[in-house]
Amino acid sequence: MRNSLDCIFRPRSIAVIGASKTRGKIGHEIVHNLVTAEFDGKVFPINPKADVIHSIKAYPSVEDVPDDIDMAVITVPKRFALEVVKQCVRKKVKGLVVITAGFKETGEVGAALEREITDLVRSSGMRMVGPNCMGVINTDPDVRMNASFTRTYPHHGKTAFISQSGALGEAILDYSVETGIGLSKFMSLGNRADVTSNDTMEYLKDDPNAELVLLYLESFGNPRNFSRIARSLSRLKPIIAVKSGRTKAGARAASSHTGAMAGVDIAVDALFEQCGVLRVNTIEEVFDMAKAFVGQPRPAGPRVAILTNGGGPGILATDALSARGLEMADFTEETRKQLTAFLSEDAAVGNPVDMTGSGAPDDFGKALDVVLQDPGVDTAVVIVVMPAFLDAKAVARSVIETRAKHPDKLVLTCFMTGAEDETGVLGILRDANIPIYTYPESAAIALSGLERYRRWLARPEGEMPQFDADKAVAVSVLEKARLDGRKLLTVAESQQILEAYGIEIAASAAVESEEEAVAFAKEHGYPVVLKIVSGTISHKTDRGGMALDIRDEGSLREEFRKMRKSFSKEDVEAILVQEMVEGEIETVIGMNYDPTFGPLIMFGLGGIYVEVLKDVAFKMYPLTDLDAGDMIRSIKGYVLLTGYRGKEPADIDKIKETLLRVSQLAGDFPQIQSLEMNPFLVAGVGGCTCAVDARVILA
Ligand code: COA
Repeated sequence: MRNSLDCIFRPRSIAVIGASKTRGKIGHEIVHNLVTAEFDGKVFPINPKADVIHSIKAYPSVEDVPDDIDMAVITVPKRFALEVVKQCVRKKVKGLVVITAGFKETGEVGAALEREITDLVRSSGMRMVGPNCMGVINTDPDVRMNASFTRTYPHHGKTAFISQSGALGEAILDYSVETGIGLSKFMSLGNRADVTSNDTMEYLKDDPNAELVLLYLESFGNPRNFSRIARSLSRLKPIIAVKSGRTKAGARAASSHTGAMAGVDIAVDALFEQCGVLRVNTIEEVFDMAKAFVGQPRPAGPRVAILTNGGGPGILATDALSARGLEMADFTEETRKQLTAFLSEDAAVGNPVDMTGSGAPDDFGKALDVVLQDPGVDTAVVIVVMPAFLDAKAVARSVIETRAKHPDKLVLTCFMTGAEDETGVLGILRDANIPIYTYPESAAIALSGLERYRRWLARPEGEMPQFDADKAVAVSVLEKARLDGRKLLTVAESQQILEAYGIEIAASAAVESEEEAVAFAKEHGYPVVLKIVSGTISHKTDRGGMALDIRDEGSLREEFRKMRKSFSKEDVEAILVQEMVEGEIETVIGMNYDPTFGPLIMFGLGGIYVEVLKDVAFKMYPLTDLDAGDMIRSIKGYVLLTGYRGKEPADIDKIKETLLRVSQLAGDFPQIQSLEMNPFLVAGVGGCTCAVDARVILA
């Protein structure tokens, strides 16, 4: 039985092994931080040469301490680390925070030592944060533990921060103080040899002191666990994450035709979106978004009113909000009338409300009161430019008073004070717990987080239908290719696998001779298509490698001979004869297996649209029916599928079902590296919606 993480986050006694008398040494700073944060438990400095450290009695070894020890912070040099951990095992210490560096991050020798320590920790039931971490903080007034060597101790609050980077820890804590966002816990997880980000997220589910979870991630240990835990945690508490680094998954996902999409970390975006995790780009944005979540009412919808005394910032804000999926509220006649009644003649009473430079401090409060009463407004953003004559503090006070009258509506402010707030207005707003932003764009980022989270909570979980599939057929095809040592399946094999999973593909056959082509057409009927199968020639149509709509035997024979003459046997693997499918729109459906993330499924407009417009959407396996629907709707070309300009609407249910069947296939056979149906032709309901080209590649 392994200890709960309480031994690390709520210990009653802490030993600091490697505590030092010397100021500035990490082993000294940690004792100092525990004491100055007023840790509500016992602290035991451990040092073989000192009797007393930081006015506290020290012991030569943890085994010499007469009391039980819940948690030990280890700050001894690496060469002593294993021995010290063994002492902790004998002492029955429950949890470790290993600050010492020089393990996995330095190479194989360090990694081996880290494994040895981790094995020992696991077999004894202990839990360990680190090694190579900055430590942990719990500001809960019942605990008040700063078991880290940071300079800053955050205010107590209801937000937990999990960081995979220790180096960024100081910046994170500084931001928290600067923005007034109190933290309940801060955890620097280091190499995550035992306790992972996933474990800590799981722990935070039941933590009443964590109402909001902030993450700084560098990598996912186990993305599937992350997905499972984050999905359920985000239903209870919002998660805002910044993920550094770029994954190659997206690049790989974009196989052959979609290769141009490389460089975008698509897999991470897809994973976060499917788990309800709100992704931002920087630590600053984490805190900008967090401000709108902490202690604020949650807007009931996306409709925003902007109130300003400056036209330019109003337009900037409108652009920023619209670009992020928010809506500009449509005021009622009554609202406009009331605004007109007291604002100056030059004022604009639409949305944004521009009071112009003549807006007096009271006008801000009055106008805010009017717009917040409008039933079409969910949130108001007050943007104040500050000419010298404007009494900014008075503006702030009138906003604060009015906000208090509307506790259900969110009010964000943007006082464009510049870096130095000479007016002191920001402090007043912060004390009143009103979120403040320097630029309208930051407020828009925050609101987009709230809106994404609102939609996530409103979204049902979705279902994962299981289709009947002839798995045995797929197994035998894949096995044969494996025994032959082939990675690329033949057209016929790809077709067999897809058909075994109920995915429709136009009937076709690779033919050696004119006679075989004619026989195929006799069996399936005209018109047919002839095309070359080639790994090296990509634009078949341009090179005469494709003949469409062949209506009779004579033309078929003629086209076959032409193709034979134009292409050498080295260039083309085969000539394919295929039934002619009358789809309206070319789409692409694909899957790529990423070693870290698992199957990544793709849908988009096919043919030249993939290459030129890169109009594709990605989601991680496993897809729910809602995921599949979202993918289809999220591409820019979606409107083309809905019956654009009098065209018949596309069979969207069939596309959705195909995506779900691809997801099932990908889950059943992780040995499939990639699958691409390009084009997957889409017709109207009842028409022929199916793949006309498919490529399956094994890992
Ligand atoms: N038990 C208890 N104390 C021991 C010990 C043992 N077995 N062996 C040594 N010590 C004591 C030392 O005597 C010393 O105390 P002193 O100053 O009174 O002599 C103290 O532990 C520290 O050892 P020292 O040799 O002075 O090391 P250090 O303080 O220079 O460095 C680390 C120790 C852990 C800080 C360093 O090895 C390290 O890993 N630094 C990087 C940390 C880091 O960056 N982590 C990641 C952050 S994101």
